[in-house]
Amino acid sequence: MQQVKKLEQLEALVSGWRREGQVIGFVPTMGNLHAGHHSLVERARREADRVVASIFVNPTQFGPNEDFARYPRTPQADAEGLERVGCDALFMPSVQTMYPYGPEGCVRVRVPGITDLLDGAHRPGHFDGVATVVARLFNMVRPDVAVFGAKDYQQLQVIHYLVRDLAFPIRIVAGETRREPDGLAMSSRNQYLSAPERERAATLHQVLQWVRSRAPGGGSPEVLEREAAQRLAAAGFEVDYVSIRRLDLGQPADAAESSLIVLAAARLGNTRLIDNLALDAG
Ligand code: PAJ
Repeated sequence: MQQVKKLEQLEALVSGWRREGQVIGFVPTMGNLHAGHHSLVERARREADRVVASIFVNPTQFGPNEDFARYPRTPQADAEGLERVGCDALFMPSVQTMYPYGPEGCVRVRVPGITDLLDGAHRPGHFDGVATVVARLFNMVRPDVAVFGAKDYQQLQVIHYLVRDLAFPIRIVAGETRREPDGLAMSSRNQYLSAPERERAATLHQVLQWVRSRAPGGGSPEVLEREAAQRLAAAGFEVDYVSIRRLDLGQPADAAESSLIVLAAARLGNTRLIDNLALDAG
C-alpha cells in the first residue's frame, strides 16, 4: 500500500491507474479505524480495481465544544489495518493541503434542508463541514465509486444530494453497519465510554430493535418515538432524538408506511452515540 500526503503524489498515482482503465474506489475516513471502516474498504475492493482510503480529521465538521482536539489519532495502526484488507493507497493530507486558505477561508458547500434536521439540528454546521471536505476529497481522488457507511445514515443522504446537485460522476455505495457482539454499532467514539457506560451502550441498538418489532401497526410514529426515548432515558441516556422517518428522511404519516427508518442520537456521559435501523414494511 502506498502512503501519500501530498496532492501531487496522489494525482500521479491515481492518474496512472486511470490511464490503465482501472476503476477507482474511495473510502474517506477520519482514522482510528475499526472493523466497520475495514468492511467499507472490502466493499470498495469488490466494486473497483483499485481502492484509495483517506484519513483526515476534518476541523470544519466539529463544533466549538466537540471532540476535535481529543479525537483519537492512530495513523500507524490504521495503515497496518488498511494494508491487511487490501487497500492500495492511503491519502493522509495535512490541514494545509485540505484548506490552503485556512478552514474558515475556503468555499463552503451546503446541502440545504436535510442538513438542518436530526443531527444537523443538534450539530449546527456539521454537515456543511462534511459536504465541503467530501467535495474537495472527491475532486482530489476523482474516484468512480465511493463507499460510505449506513451507520451515519443522514451523512449518506447528504452525500447522495451532494453528488446529484454538483454532478459528481461518482457512484455512491452504502456499506452496512458493523456491530460489536452485543449489538453496539462500532465507532471510534465508543472508546470514550467508561466500563459501566459501555455495558449500557448496547441499549441504544436494543431500543431501535424494539421500535422495529412494534412498527408497523404498533402505534403512531410519535408514540413509538416517545416510548423509545423514555426507554433510553431509563437506561441513563440523555436523548437528542429518536425519529421515525422515510428513507429520504421525510416525516411519515404513520408507522405502517413502507420503507421507513428509525434514527437515534443519545449521550452517555460525555459520549454521543448515533445509530439507526431500517423498519421492515408489514
Ligand atoms: P468516520 O467517522 O471515520 O467514518 C468513515 C466512514 O466509516 C463513514 O462512511 C462511516 O459511516 C463509516 N462507518 C463508521 N462506523 C461504521 C460501522 N460501525 N460500520 C460500517 N461503517 C461505519 O464519517 C466520517 O468519518 C467523516 O464524516 C467523513 C465522511 C470522512 C468526512 O470527514
